[in-house]
Amino acid sequence: MESKKLLILVATMTGTALMAAEDIAEYCSENDIETKIIEIDNTDIKVLTEVKSPVLICSSTYGQGDVPDSAQNFYNKLKELSPNLNHIRYALFGLGDMTYRDTFAYGGKKFTDLLDSLNATKIGDPFYHDASDGTLPEEVAVDWFVNNIKEYI
Ligand SMILES: Cc1cc2nc3c(=O)[nH]c(=O)nc-3n(C[C@H](O)[C@H](O)[C@H](O)COP(=O)(O)O)c2cc1C
Repeated sequence: MESKKLLILVATMTGTALMAAEDIAEYCSENDIETKIIEIDNTDIKVLTEVKSPVLICSSTYGQGDVPDSAQNFYNKLKELSPNLNHIRYALFGLGDMTYRDTFAYGGKKFTDLLDSLNATKIGDPFYHDASDGTLPEEVAVDWFVNNIKEYI
């Protein structure tokens, strides 16, 4: 049987989203799912247009509800070129802070809105972590993945 694969794209400012991604990747490696983590930073949008496996996007939120600085070129390029992504199945783990009430987790939400508009298919329910709720994203990320996403990989 061909092994299961998952591409994890991380958009982070201070590394929290990466920690959550790494914990999910560790769980995957122990459960026969091959993962590749790419931190978005002037990354070519080819990673999405050419991907064959399902994709997990882990993105935090900065500025006034924006994707992290390092991911802005990628996000803007994707929006500008608007490739058809109907071959993609993707899951979303967003990070934010309810203290920013009006823009809570908009970084991740911007990615889902854009991918949906490019015909990608969402798998499972997106999760939006609230940094003010007393949990750490990496504590809840694996449970979310196991209970909502794993079956679709
Ligand atoms: C300057 C600054 C701006 C932020 N803006 C928002 C925001 O608009 N909406 C939101 O939900 N969270 C916002 N956050 C919270 C971060 O998204 C949250 O702390 C997240 O866990 C950081 O993840 P990272 O380390 O992967 O970048 C902001 C944090 C900082 C420091």
